[in-house]
Amino acid sequence: MMNKLSKVNFENKVVIITGAGNGLGKAYALDLANRGAKVVVNDLGGSVDGSGSANTPADDVVEEIKKNGGEAEANYSSVSTKEGGDAIISTAMDAYGTVDAVVNNAGILKDKSFVKMTEDDFSAVIDVHLKGAFYVSQPAFKIMKENSYGRIVNIASPSGLFGNFGQANYGAAKMGIVGLTNVLAIEGAKYNIKVNVIAPNATTRMTEAIFGEEMGKMFKVEQVVPMVAYLASEVCEPTHEIFSVGAGRFARVGISTHIGYFNPDATAEDIDSNIEKIRLIENGTFPMNNEDEFAIIQQAIQRN
Ligand code: NAI
Repeated sequence: MMNKLSKVNFENKVVIITGAGNGLGKAYALDLANRGAKVVVNDLGGSVDGSGSANTPADDVVEEIKKNGGEAEANYSSVSTKEGGDAIISTAMDAYGTVDAVVNNAGILKDKSFVKMTEDDFSAVIDVHLKGAFYVSQPAFKIMKENSYGRIVNIASPSGLFGNFGQANYGAAKMGIVGLTNVLAIEGAKYNIKVNVIAPNATTRMTEAIFGEEMGKMFKVEQVVPMVAYLASEVCEPTHEIFSVGAGRFARVGISTHIGYFNPDATAEDIDSNIEKIRLIENGTFPMNNEDEFAIIQQAIQRN
């Protein structure tokens, strides 16, 4: 066990980590437990494409945490239903009486180029990633509101933020999680509920084929853990932010708007002749809610 006086510690804190039976989620669970958290290790125990289920992945992680002297409780529910989300919260409440932090990490892939993607491929991925984050976060958020304390760490992906061939379902789900994060952060602000999102890169069963052996060695799951530990902890400063994390690089990702082109009477032809100006990325500002952007538009009106 780590020294309980470490700055980023989870003494008396209850943390739910979904999809914590493998890969990144497992690494988060082991580290947070080592830092004193009581961890609910949720995992359905299926394969990367979401098929099958097993108790062993969650059980094995719980056993490892206990062997290290930590506290953990397993839960095998799917995050992709309301009942599943409620059951995960119940496991935390029954075992430890509260919820302080949630890491929405469970995930699957069903990659296909867009025209070949079936409705099931699309829905299944939305259900686990995006609706899963909703089903688990909503009951947790209610508890956090009552406690005037909470941390939610959502897991997006570069595939959502930037795009990746064959991942229309996954990209949409992951960018949806960014939207969910934005709103939960705004609604949670006055209750000291901080909500952030990371886009990780690490070698797991989900990505090993993509990274290959050489690259794979440079993207270790352990290198993503520190950011999640920080964001899930009491010392976390930011809320409503996006971070890219991988291979030892930690960087904020911003959604920015730029100077643009102003013309209240613009025609499609004006857009055509000013498209370079409209597209120019320079002197960006980062609106943190709708009103921020509205203020930027008003400034443009006043300037012109
Ligand atoms: P992984 O496949 O090793 O772990 C995902 C875990 O989620 C598995 O243990 C799986 O059983 C569990 N799971 C799947 N569906 C579930 C459900 N309905 N309910 C409960 N548990 C469920 O994959 P990895 O790489 O550790 O991924 C973790 C998260 O990070 C995912 O959300 C993934 O999309 C995201 N991510 C990973 C990246 C990487 O480079 N590894 C890149 C970008 C995002």
